Order: sequence, then C-alpha cells, then structure tokens
Amino acid sequence: MIECKNLNKTYQNGDVQTVALKDVSFYIEKGEFVAIIGPSGSGKSTLMHILGALDIPTSGSYFLDGKEVSELEDDELSELRREKIGFVFQAFNLLPRTTVLRNVILPLLYSDISDNERVERAKTCLAYAGMEESKFYNLSNQLSGGQMQRVAIARSLINNPAIILADEPTGNLDTKTSQVVMKAFQELNEKGHTIILITHEQEIAAFAQRVISIRDGVIESDINNIKK
Ligand SMILES: Nc1ncnc2c1ncn2[C@@H]1O[C@H](COP(=O)(O)OP(=O)(O)O)[C@@H](O)[C@H]1O
Ligand SMILES: [Mg+2]
Repeated sequence: MIECKNLNKTYQNGDVQTVALKDVSFYIEKGEFVAIIGPSGSGKSTLMHILGALDIPTSGSYFLDGKEVSELEDDELSELRREKIGFVFQAFNLLPRTTVLRNVILPLLYSDISDNERVERAKTCLAYAGMEESKFYNLSNQLSGGQMQRVAIARSLINNPAIILADEPTGNLDTKTSQVVMKAFQELNEKGHTIILITHEQEIAAFAQRVISIRDGVIESDINNIKK
C-alpha cells in the first residue's frame, strides 16, 4: 500500500541547507499499525508530510497504492488526500465555537452528500472515536483535550480513509488520556484502517504492532511485534 524508496529531503533556506531525511526506505502493508518514533528534529514530521502527500521528497520515490505521488497533478493530489488519508494533529485543529458534530461534518462541506447522511456519518465516526453522545452538540472549545482529540479522530474518519496519519496525537494530552486515545486508534486498526502514528514517546509507540525508529533522518530500526 505504501512504499518509500530511498527518500531524501533537504530544506534550503537561503544558504542554509538542512538534511531532514536520508535514504529512507520501507513498505507498509494495508491494515498495519505502525509507530514512527524519534527525538525532536529527527525528521518525523517531514516524513509524515511526504506520506500524507502534503510535500514531496527531494529525491527518491514514494508510492501510494502503486501511484508515484511526486508525479501527480495538484487536483489528483487533493483527491488522493481527501479520499485515502485521514489526518490527526497534535494541536487538534478544531474550529472553536463550533459544535462537535459540525467540526466532524466540515470536510464534507463541498460534497454532494445529503444533510441527513452527513449527520449520520458524523455520528458513526464520533462513536468509532469513542466520543460520548451527550457531547455531540457541545462547542468544541468547551471540551477537554482528550475529547477534542476524539473529535479530531472522528473528523479524520469522515471519508472512510484507508490510512490514518497522526502526528504526535497525544502530544498535548496527559498520560491517562493518551492511553484512552491510543486505545481508540487500536480499535480503528482492528476495524481495518492502516494507522501510521508519529511520536517521541516509547509508551505511545508500544500501542503499535510495528515500530520504526528514526534519528537524524536515518532509519535506525524497524521492529515488528506480532502479538498473539
Ligand atoms: N520548513 C523547514 N525549513 C527548514 N528546515 C526544516 C523545515 N522543516 C523542518 N526542518 C528541519 O528538518 C529537520 C527535521 O524536522 P522535523 O521533520 O520537523 O522533525 P521532527 O518532527 O522529528 O521533530 C530539523 O532539523 C528541522 O529543523
Ligand atoms: Mg514533528
């Protein structure tokens, strides 16, 4: 489903060059739950942007479902992101003073799906993400961090994406809430979604089946813990 072949990424700011990824190669199959772990500055977000088709590598190839992403046109790219990938970020990125339900429906704003179906889909996604029903009409800025992240996870599910990409999704949550959110990701994985989660914390990575460690833009190890 995902194949990275010798990815390199260099940022150029004036005379300053930063090498963020060096010769990164791996395969991710459909249905995997992968954590990418590394310290701050190791290239995790850079890699996530490439995997999410938000950026392209300086060299090397990235194939998503057999398509080389750098060769797609802008409209093909946005279609690919919309249909195949759900994004979850550390900062939740919800619209404040807007209800939970509306936040989840927002990505469907320009689709031709009926209002009724939008609401039904959003409610299903919220339930999948473990959000309690009594909060569906609350304003997003009145929620706890853990609840906000569950809304963000529900929003990422609205187009039933094959892949969920999460960049430090527990970075703003306390330990106990992080565990709850990670369990929600595990349940989504059991429902068949491929999950790629970025973290700098070992305890968070431990929820995944496979852990890819990255340091200074280089993959240090790639360990599959097949349980049961
Ligand atoms: N837009 C950018 N311009 C220049 N350097 C960048 C940019 N984004 C990231 N970097 C640099 O690339 C390296 C990897 O960054 P990043 O992928 O954000 O790491 P992480 O997410 O693991 O903290 C760091 O040295 C960072 O400073
Ligand atoms: Mg980062």
